[in-house]
Amino acid sequence: MLKIGVFGVGHLGKFHLNNWKEIPGIELAGFYDPDDQTAKEVQEKYSLTRFDNTDQLMDQCDALDIVAPTTYHFELCEQAIKKGKHVFVEKPLAHTMKEAEQLVELVKESGVKFQVGHVERFNPAFLSVKDMQLNPLFIEVHRLAQFDPRGTEVSVILDLMIHDIDIILSIVKSDVKHISASGVGVLTDTPDIANVRIEFHNGCVANLTSSRISMKKMRKMRLFQKDAYIGIDFLNKKTEVIKLKDADDHKAFTFDIDTPHGKKTIAVANPAVPEVNAIKRELEEFRNSILNNTKTVVSEIDGMMAMDVAHQILRKIGHNVITS
Ligand SMILES: NC(=O)c1ccc[n+]([C@@H]2O[C@H](COP(=O)([O-])OP(=O)(O)OC[C@H]3O[C@@H](n4cnc5c(N)ncnc54)[C@H](O)[C@@H]3O)[C@@H](O)[C@H]2O)c1
Repeated sequence: MLKIGVFGVGHLGKFHLNNWKEIPGIELAGFYDPDDQTAKEVQEKYSLTRFDNTDQLMDQCDALDIVAPTTYHFELCEQAIKKGKHVFVEKPLAHTMKEAEQLVELVKESGVKFQVGHVERFNPAFLSVKDMQLNPLFIEVHRLAQFDPRGTEVSVILDLMIHDIDIILSIVKSDVKHISASGVGVLTDTPDIANVRIEFHNGCVANLTSSRISMKKMRKMRLFQKDAYIGIDFLNKKTEVIKLKDADDHKAFTFDIDTPHGKKTIAVANPAVPEVNAIKRELEEFRNSILNNTKTVVSEIDGMMAMDVAHQILRKIGHNVITS
């Protein structure tokens, strides 16, 4: 049995607890949360031991699940890695780039398994297309959410847009060439809404819009490439692929159009979306990487790269990014 300790059992931490309880091979050693009211609820609902000392809980565990506010990620991760414990930490990896870089070094020296909670990598809509040949030349993303005070200790870039940044960096195998960005803090002191254009060296351009002050929700990514359009709806868990017809693609709806190169058949298909609980899947993958000694799906380096792009965006917007 792999013993897990959960650090932070607020909104997301409780979802993690529910999922850990369903994952075979896992034993929950207990939790740490400084908030007495939250801790009482969790003790009663889950019959779990509350620890009031991080050291003691870490010593009881093989691996940690850190779901505390971002400002505490570094100190908890550092303490755990130095004890040789495997770490799953929520996104964003850390509060500052210096912290992120230090964590990457610590993981390298220690050899522990380390995964960052970029959960959209496990969204069933993304899973349904991720093994296609993805070579986008142009990407359009909208991630809009209603206002929620949770998460506002960081900007919309580090809170929401970082999900799309991570997905895009996992698809576009090229370095960032240039970033233009504009953002506004409306309800908080950091940007609540932002529009960003990322140009890559391979010619791909990504346009991202994120808002946490929207009236409606939307989480859509559209990829345009030479041979296909791929629409990924992360919110409604649907995907659409439109391309010139493959001879063997019998399931697709097709229609013909006249082009300067003659008549072409266009195929519109909705790839089968697997029934996957994304949080459960990411935690299972973390467990698997420990048990099988394999790489984690979203590594500390992925977490740092996504933060690096997010911080470049914040500098472009002119927000005073904390760097040390
Ligand atoms: N992957 C995602 O989609 C996603 C979604 C929401 C939140 N998050 C991330 O998860 C983390 C937690 O977010 P949340 O929405 O659950 O916040 P939350 O405020 O609901 O819960 C955080 C909990 O951590 C506790 N806490 C405070 N200091 C702590 C410490 N030093 N050690 C341990 N626990 C501590 C708080 O008392 C609280 O119960 C944040 O890093 C956030 O960015 C990720």
